[in-house]
Amino acid sequence: MPTLLVLHTSLNSASSVTRDLTATFVKRFLADHPGATTIERDLVTEPVPHLHPDLVPSVLGLAPTASPDGPAAVRTLADTLIEELESADTIVIGAPMYNFMVSSALKAWIDHVYRAKRTFAYIDGVPTGLLPPGKKVILFVSSGGAYSEGAARAIDFIEPFMRTAFRFIGILDITVIRAESQASLEAANSERSRAMQEVMALST
Ligand SMILES: Cc1cc2nc3c(=O)[nH]c(=O)nc-3n(C[C@H](O)[C@H](O)[C@H](O)COP(=O)(O)O)c2cc1C
Repeated sequence: MPTLLVLHTSLNSASSVTRDLTATFVKRFLADHPGATTIERDLVTEPVPHLHPDLVPSVLGLAPTASPDGPAAVRTLADTLIEELESADTIVIGAPMYNFMVSSALKAWIDHVYRAKRTFAYIDGVPTGLLPPGKKVILFVSSGGAYSEGAARAIDFIEPFMRTAFRFIGILDITVIRAESQASLEAANSERSRAMQEVMALST
């Protein structure tokens, strides 16, 4: 049975576009794969902290240093997040644009799942993703403005960053669905509906 890892990052719990798209995808996934395991993390209500200094040796693939002030707890959380990622076949992420980038909550999650010799390595100087093969990421991006065409593409730091971030740890299959122009009274609803149609057309 497949395992689905779901990450929510919208600050808006009532009418979020990305939460809506994500929930629809999860419903379809579970209908297509009854009995699948779902791991759901709301990084807003249960945030992952910024990286703790005690984690630096693990992140760099060095032996952990002993510290009496709780390094075990921070390593346990990081270990859990990595195990969840390793176990997932599909990772679905709702990523509203905040100041041209993903939320700091999502960036903190990424910081925790990057670990040398576990999720990536430099082999003969070449960066190599170490996650088990065959995983895919589905990313729902929502933004007030429109960034997918023209000059504004240069200031979208979400899609290039997320593609690079997952490729680095070994996930090459990344689908991005965007609901743009959410600040426009004329365009918001049609953009949201178009994105929803794309979700309905996704293969799970
Ligand atoms: C703190 C904050 C920062 C934002 N920054 C941007 C931005 O840089 N560019 C943009 O187009 N929209 C920006 N927005 C608008 C959101 O991206 C937009 O409302 C999006 O639909 C939110 O997704 P959600 O409905 O899933 O919460 C920002 C919104 C918030 C709350």
